[in-house]
Amino acid sequence: MIQSVLDQTELQDLAKRVDTAVQAVRDLKGDAREKALAMKTAIEEFHKSALTRMIQSLKSDPHGKELLFAMIDEPEIYAMLSMHSLIRPDLATRVRSVIENVRPYMQSHGGDVELLEVTTDTVKLRLAGSCNGCSQSAVTLRNGVEEALRESVPEISHIEVAPNEPGPSLISVESLLHANQKGWIAGPAPEELTDGKPFRIEGENSGVILLRSGNEIQAFRNACAHMGLPLDGAMVDREAGTITCPWHGFRFDCRTGECLTAPHAQLEVLPLRLEGGIIHVRPS
Ligand code: FES
Repeated sequence: MIQSVLDQTELQDLAKRVDTAVQAVRDLKGDAREKALAMKTAIEEFHKSALTRMIQSLKSDPHGKELLFAMIDEPEIYAMLSMHSLIRPDLATRVRSVIENVRPYMQSHGGDVELLEVTTDTVKLRLAGSCNGCSQSAVTLRNGVEEALRESVPEISHIEVAPNEPGPSLISVESLLHANQKGWIAGPAPEELTDGKPFRIEGENSGVILLRSGNEIQAFRNACAHMGLPLDGAMVDREAGTITCPWHGFRFDCRTGECLTAPHAQLEVLPLRLEGGIIHVRPS
């Protein structure tokens, strides 16, 4: 374990100072703004080039590689490498985020897409509604998903579309009543949640945590945006409205899931609804 030079509070103060300075530059007018932004870009490019060289050298040596992975566990190093796009979220997270981005468009055209599996170079999907069949619009929607995946996640070379599960020839009234519950899992009643303490429920593929803060409840995937480790042991600061990951101390906004330690990192917020006095969450 590498000893951090700054403690958590100092690190947060420093991140705040950087954000304030960047905002001040953005608020400048005209020529001054252009020059300040050009200087910022030049410094960032200079740093990125040096950091890339350092990473390449460390990676070329087995001991250096080990050291590099140990360094990435440090929040300030992780934040800096993320800022320069030198660290990317894992494959499954990137695929999930592409699918979540295209779903609203597909739903607005009467279709839907479900992510079934991600392996090294293959994504398995199931398409529903108007994405099925061979009409022109179904083909266009399917092509849209495939293009979005290929463009944002170039490692994916195969996209498999699973056949739709055969439907019964007669549809029961019961299944119609519960049709809109597909994909939702039942959790606890709101009264079972303790204010400021994460509550863990299990989904089909991965866990979910619920956070209660006063009258508000939020659902997140139980995977920290840093290394995907579980958050159910996280500390919640009710006054500040933040949750701190127990593994390496990344802090997130309790309501939005936005990471306050590393810019651009984000907890995955899940849809949630209250039905029959029970909280329901849709994990995928
Ligand atoms: S801060 Fe590293 S896994 Fe959460």
